[in-house]
Amino acid sequence: MRIAIDGPAGAGKSTVAKEVARRLGYAYIDTGAMYRAVALAALRAGIPAWDVEALSNLSGSVEIRLGSGEDGSTRVYLDGQDVSREIRAPEVSRFVSRVAEVPGVRRHLTEKQRRLAASGRVVMEGRDIGTVVLPDAERKFFITATVEERARRRYAEAAGEGYSISYEEQINEIMRRDSRDASRGVAPLIQAPDAVVIDTTGKSPGQVAETILSLVRGG
Ligand code: DC
Repeated sequence: MRIAIDGPAGAGKSTVAKEVARRLGYAYIDTGAMYRAVALAALRAGIPAWDVEALSNLSGSVEIRLGSGEDGSTRVYLDGQDVSREIRAPEVSRFVSRVAEVPGVRRHLTEKQRRLAASGRVVMEGRDIGTVVLPDAERKFFITATVEERARRRYAEAAGEGYSISYEEQINEIMRRDSRDASRGVAPLIQAPDAVVIDTTGKSPGQVAETILSLVRGG
């Protein structure tokens, strides 16, 4: 079975998707981390957002690997280097939606993602999994929450990782990213018609994971 989990930034997708994967013994694939890895590689190489050809070539040539660390945490490797922390830096968060708009980048990453899901037993999380990457996934969920709640979560997350960004900046950042993600020409953030929508406002990740697991197991 392949489980697609989509939704906007800060809706709680990652925590929920990881928990669902763990409980089912499935692989967890964070596709946002793959876009972030390409954005980080572009920043390091000094490629500007307008150079779509260079961005597309870069996304086809970098090696991105998702794995887990000794403590069981999920890790992201860019050309063999662990960049799990760097890809969460505010400058990467600001740049990544520009990178994710480039059709060539999406084509390369979509191919990689389909290969990763080919053997099944995956929980894949992103923005376009149920609509573009795995339109025939057996289970699809669209996870959402109010902007305020999402900003609060991202704020706590960033603070936990030692990045200082105010709550107000976080709200603005999320709204900017939502509108970019939802209005881009290729694979915009929209819910698949056959996705189950879950509003996580006021719910714990554990509660949401339970809801998904009972729907998945229910038939
Ligand atoms: O989920 P996240 O914040 O780590 O995602 C980072 C960016 O990548 C976000 O701006 C949306 C984009 N993204 C995408 O366009 N398609 C995906 N399948 C996953 C993420």
